[in-house]
Amino acid sequence: MILSGKALLAGVIGWPVGHSRSPRLHGYWLERHGIDGAYLPLAVRPGDFAEVLRALPRMGFRGANVTVPHKEQALALADHVDPLARRIGAVNTLVVRPDGSLEGRNTDAFGFLENLRQGRPGFKAAQGPAVVLGAGGAARAVIAALQDDGCPEIRLLNRTRSRAEEVAAALGGPVRVLPWEQRAEGLDGAALVVNTTTLGMNGQPPLELSLSALPVTALVTDIVYAPLQTPLLAAAAARGNKVVDGLGMLLHQARPGFAAWFGVMPEVSEDLRRFVEDA
Ligand code: ATR
Repeated sequence: MILSGKALLAGVIGWPVGHSRSPRLHGYWLERHGIDGAYLPLAVRPGDFAEVLRALPRMGFRGANVTVPHKEQALALADHVDPLARRIGAVNTLVVRPDGSLEGRNTDAFGFLENLRQGRPGFKAAQGPAVVLGAGGAARAVIAALQDDGCPEIRLLNRTRSRAEEVAAALGGPVRVLPWEQRAEGLDGAALVVNTTTLGMNGQPPLELSLSALPVTALVTDIVYAPLQTPLLAAAAARGNKVVDGLGMLLHQARPGFAAWFGVMPEVSEDLRRFVEDA
């Protein structure tokens, strides 16, 4: 990579940031499109975040992604916040406006839906009830996406019920909280199942869930992407359900930021998937 003095700059701010696949992902697109630009890993301690944020426009950055643990602070500190990011309660993408002010967006809802549509072309959340397992930050983005895509009923189940109630109260819409113990029955008549818990991730226990009540036409997806095929996805595929893995959400959520900073809306190809998987 050789940069000119006019190179466009962006990066990902996190603590720690060493595990982030975003530099590899954006680096692939920059090279693919022959763009004079760079996307850097920026390891920033929580106490330094506000100062770094203010410095970004002054250092000529076009913007940045924001990851754990800064997403809520980014929402509080951005000069302008997209209504969707406010609803989700987190900012993962910052764009420097021409006047130097910082605009905060959340692209996770976009990434979630685009990933489902790439896996099942024509997918619409309006097609039927959805079951969402988990009530953390990822669940909020998923629920907002489902609401905006016309989902008629969102069944939300979380081990700690109070967290699910809080998410339902914050997001409104057709969200119905069900007890975690009823997750098998909750699948009855569902068109979509989404795991947003950490269960099934490498080093974590699997998600225990009997799929017998789930229509075989339902789509099953997991936010977890390490491993790519979680025990949930393996069980769903074995009984004939269409499954979509979680890596695609990570790749698709990155597209709007890249477009805003570097001027090209990039695509998620099989080659890119393999490149990021190999990291
Ligand atoms: P994120 O913001 O990435 O979604 P998070 O806020 O840490 O992550 O949320 C993790 C989710 O996994 C939560 O819904 C959590 O349930 P609790 O709210 O009850 O903690 C869920 N989770 C983690 N370990 C779990 C387990 N052993 N059984 C059931 N749910 C679990």
